[in-house]
Amino acid sequence: MGSSDLKGKPVKASAVHDQVAVVFPNDLNAHGTLFGGRVLEMADRLCAIVAKRHAGCVCVTLGIDSVRFLAPAKHGDTLVLQASINRVWKTSLEVGVRVFAEDYITRERVRIFSAYFTFVAVDDAMKPIAVPLIIPETEDEKRRYIQAEERRKHRMSLERSV
Ligand SMILES: CC(C)(COP(=O)(O)OP(=O)(O)OC[C@H]1O[C@@H](n2cnc3c(N)ncnc32)[C@H](O)[C@@H]1OP(=O)(O)O)[C@@H](O)C(=O)NCCC(=O)NCCS
Repeated sequence: MGSSDLKGKPVKASAVHDQVAVVFPNDLNAHGTLFGGRVLEMADRLCAIVAKRHAGCVCVTLGIDSVRFLAPAKHGDTLVLQASINRVWKTSLEVGVRVFAEDYITRERVRIFSAYFTFVAVDDAMKPIAVPLIIPETEDEKRRYIQAEERRKHRMSLERSV
């Protein structure tokens, strides 16, 4: 970790607000709407980039929770993906992701997916390593930062009960 990372990095330095994709025929399920596993994969790829941008090293997916498929998307829809870091601990971090389906004529957006991804920063030997602090600046970022700690406590409690 560089010395400038010790102070932390703002959320906006790694966040993505406008990744776009088109729903192609091979993205559909047997009912003709967007396949949920496809959205999950797109979200995982995007969140991993956000995590790596912040950490500056390889980050592996430890877990995914609060996965919600909120509405269907159809062939030809524009997908808009947004992801940002909610909180960083020592070696792990939580990224929140939202996906919208956008009508390309009216530009109306419907939220179709949301989830939280937990990543762990690792070295070449897959050993967890420390990540820079995160600096929440906006009201939304500060709210997510606080709520992320509650979610982590919940995840840890589930781990202990397995
Ligand atoms: C991720 C991995 C390196 C963690 O190794 P580990 O020996 O379990 O590491 P640790 O016990 O030190 O935990 C690492 C971090 O995860 C956190 N963690 C562990 N269990 C957790 C849970 N249930 N919820 C949230 N965080 C958790 C720990 O608190 C720690 O974070 P912290 O340092 O910020 O407190 C290891 O589990 C692994 O290699 N998993 C496979 C990853 C993978 O292949 N992903 C898919 C492809 S990217």
